[in-house]
Amino acid sequence: MHLKDYLNLAIADALRQLNYDHSNTLVSISNRPDLSDYQSNVAMPLAKLAKKSPIKIADEIKEFLSKDPAFAKITVDGPGFINVTFSDSKLLEVNTSSKQFKKKVVLDYGGPNIAKEMHVGHLRSAIIGESLKRILRFSGNEVIGDVHFGDWGTPIGMLITQLKSENPNSFENNLENFDMTISEISALYKRANANFKSDDEFKESARVATFELQNGNALYRKLWKILRDKSVEAVKENYDKLGVSFDLWLGESDTNELLPKIVDNLLERKIAMHSNGAVIVPMDSQDSKQEKAPLILRKSDGAYTYAITDLATIVQRVENYNPDAILYVVDARQKEHFQQVFTVARRAGYVRDSTSLEHIAFGTVNGKDGKPFKTREGNVMNLKDLIKFSENKAREGLPEINEESEDQARKIAIGALKFQDLKNLRTSNYIFDTENFTKSEGKTGAYIQYAIARINSVLSKSSDQNFENAELKISHKIEREILLQLNRFSEFLEQACAAREPSIIGEYVYVLAQKFSIMYAELPINGENDRVVRVSRLKLCKITREILTRCLDLLGIEAPEKMLR
Ligand code: ARG
Repeated sequence: MHLKDYLNLAIADALRQLNYDHSNTLVSISNRPDLSDYQSNVAMPLAKLAKKSPIKIADEIKEFLSKDPAFAKITVDGPGFINVTFSDSKLLEVNTSSKQFKKKVVLDYGGPNIAKEMHVGHLRSAIIGESLKRILRFSGNEVIGDVHFGDWGTPIGMLITQLKSENPNSFENNLENFDMTISEISALYKRANANFKSDDEFKESARVATFELQNGNALYRKLWKILRDKSVEAVKENYDKLGVSFDLWLGESDTNELLPKIVDNLLERKIAMHSNGAVIVPMDSQDSKQEKAPLILRKSDGAYTYAITDLATIVQRVENYNPDAILYVVDARQKEHFQQVFTVARRAGYVRDSTSLEHIAFGTVNGKDGKPFKTREGNVMNLKDLIKFSENKAREGLPEINEESEDQARKIAIGALKFQDLKNLRTSNYIFDTENFTKSEGKTGAYIQYAIARINSVLSKSSDQNFENAELKISHKIEREILLQLNRFSEFLEQACAAREPSIIGEYVYVLAQKFSIMYAELPINGENDRVVRVSRLKLCKITREILTRCLDLLGIEAPEKMLR
């Protein structure tokens, strides 16, 4: 049990014995770390109910807590705040083990699209999703990661139409030799998109093509398969570089068989209705004055929408996995889409009530100008180039190019990209820093990697045997601070799980690295003469390294063995 829960229980126990309401203990990490480790503000609301002075109630609680040797100091401050400092011996137990939750979770992240090269906008879903997968798994959950490939909408019809118009004579016969790189396909898509926007006839053809594809046109299917395979290959290459992986490579297209059945089912049950040739589900409006847009399942041209593929995917996931939760790591701009899809899924009973459907929304990556991040030339930077750019930046400080420094540059670059993202609350937008993000000073991935490399170096230089079995001691304030932070690992991990928020681990690990850096700068380790103190410090270094490394792993970041600079 972590410290916060320990204190929670102790206070709840005291309240019970004192005959107060013990449902909420109002414990939080102290906002005066110089005075205490934790605080509880429970006396104030209780005082109101009991018509007593909060200080009096706080004193009563203090009296109870004082009997427990786990607490070294308890004070009542201000209007009735209870400030609690744990005993050193409690901290020296170094409890980092976490609760195991054992839920089954389907995690939908990545979400790349056919024919589109991945760019910086695709980064966040992959980075946040990969980290959530690791965090949830480490906390004992079964997590099934699905890339949910965007491979079944109008864009395919657009591509087909564009290809046809560029190769009017040879389109059907030449499919066998169809050989385009992903960049060429991506350029083709851009031309198609321009035509789709400006040319009504093109638009109509693209619609028809989409409809025909979805309804079994064999030639289009063949072409679609080629485009899909190429895209998957390119996307996988990027994900491999980023250290992002998936258990399932399913996509929107895998729902195709189900789509007409869902439409029929929802029509039959009067959940959906026909409207101007389309099939829609009307949405209730909370505010009667404002009409809410309906959810469109099938358009009047017969083509199925993004929304119905998501509904069908829910049906499949429930059938295949019966999960406790389905999490969608998707851009915040799709909020309404998910609200509507979830509403319809519940109305139709496609999920059991206890299964939670959650949109894990995130903000955009912006440039210095506050607008979505672009290259200097004003283009969206594709992911491959962004990774290269980061590797070059990471290489800048390194002495020479060899195998080791290359490995280091790669790990620093990926760590930099990921940490820059994961240190922010996922819902906030962040400004992509192209200057300092790979440096080992500041709030960066490399700062934490550097702390690990230092520990590696300290431990490898030690001539003390078996310091793992040594007794830990606290002989300096900073050692206590490190121990306190180590003891808080599972507390933060639980929070990160509950809030689906990797940045909680990002913040935690940064603070731990900072505290280690202070110890490293201020205290001798191998140079300490007192053997007992020295081996205790070595042991503390080793435990710190374990947790630093664990946290980076939870963020999807590897640490190089050494950091040359
Ligand atoms: N491919 C989609 C897009 O680029 C994201 C998919 C997200 N997942 C989902 N189940 N809708 O917008």
